[in-house]
Amino acid sequence: MSTPSLLILAGDGIGPEVMAEVKRVIGWYRDKRDMPFDVSEDLVGGCAYDAHGTPLHDDTMARAQEVDAVLLGAVGGPQYDDLDFSLKPERGLLRLRKEMDLFSNLRPAQCFDALADFSSLKRDVVAGLDIMIVRELTSGVYFGDPRGIHTEGNERVGINTQRYTESEIARVARSAFELARRRGNKVCSMEKANVMESGVLWRQVVTEVHQKDYQDVELSHMYADNGAMQLVRNPKQFDVIVTDNLFGDLLSDAAAMLTGSLGMLPSASLGLPMANGRPKALYEPVHGSAPDIAGQGKANPIACILSFAMALRYSFDAGTEADRLEQAVETVLADGARTADLLGPEGGTPISTSEMGDRILAALDASL
Ligand code: IPM
Ligand code: MG
Repeated sequence: MSTPSLLILAGDGIGPEVMAEVKRVIGWYRDKRDMPFDVSEDLVGGCAYDAHGTPLHDDTMARAQEVDAVLLGAVGGPQYDDLDFSLKPERGLLRLRKEMDLFSNLRPAQCFDALADFSSLKRDVVAGLDIMIVRELTSGVYFGDPRGIHTEGNERVGINTQRYTESEIARVARSAFELARRRGNKVCSMEKANVMESGVLWRQVVTEVHQKDYQDVELSHMYADNGAMQLVRNPKQFDVIVTDNLFGDLLSDAAAMLTGSLGMLPSASLGLPMANGRPKALYEPVHGSAPDIAGQGKANPIACILSFAMALRYSFDAGTEADRLEQAVETVLADGARTADLLGPEGGTPISTSEMGDRILAALDASL
């Protein structure tokens, strides 16, 4: 096979700083594991708007469609808040998701033992937590028509539409069942079938897909509001959660907090297989661009580095190497390496973004 290609879109805020550490990790795999990647870089978000007047240039979009995987840092910043909706940094990300048809968004929430005391929940509720939220990413209320703000009589009306087709539900359900088979073999599907027709259909289709092809996987259903409550009450009851775009957005933020730091969580957004058998894929940390700490070397690069581990696993069929990288992260945390976001109430001296990178590379070396 030819050298796998990666497009790096570091984006705004802390994106470039955390991505710099990922580039070092990519270099490590090239040098020490004989795994070269053909890496190119481009702009997305506010920096693309500054350079081209659009948060995602058509050439960048085209390049993203060609490569084996896209690695994205973060987008956004306060200086773009007043831009027209269509020009906001977030639109660049949403366009990538939509045009690459990345319908299955994998958001793991894993609690590293060394950080179990950082969660806002008690240690025994979160220690050892390992759940995976599969969020539908290309449809639902984020994209449904009609949408907009118009005037009716003498007042304005804001409209968004929750819309799901059977096939959209079925394909994300399949991806959740497939994933569950490689984990704890349990799927909990969340919607609001008690109030939304799209939720009724969601539940029906998930049940049909299960009946037809995945009866070996344990399936349960929950209303999403109860799901939110259960996530903070007893998160370890879950293995894989599958849900729609908006509920997935909310539930994954709640799940993220269980683990102690948003700075720790990676994500993968996967689409249909390409001609070479690899899925269309974009990997990004769950955290945002954190403009308040950008450029100061304070950011935690772990979420972005773990996103690359997901790329190794889901795009490059290198699960053992992904395990190695995740283990390296676990090791440095156990050894007490802490960026500022990981300092508990008792404080301590934080290390910088690049020092965290140094530690992880050293742990990778030690793993050989
Ligand atoms: C996320 C973010 C995005 C979303 C924003 C930045 C558009 O919150 O990836 O969870 O709402 O999907
Ligand atoms: Mg979100």
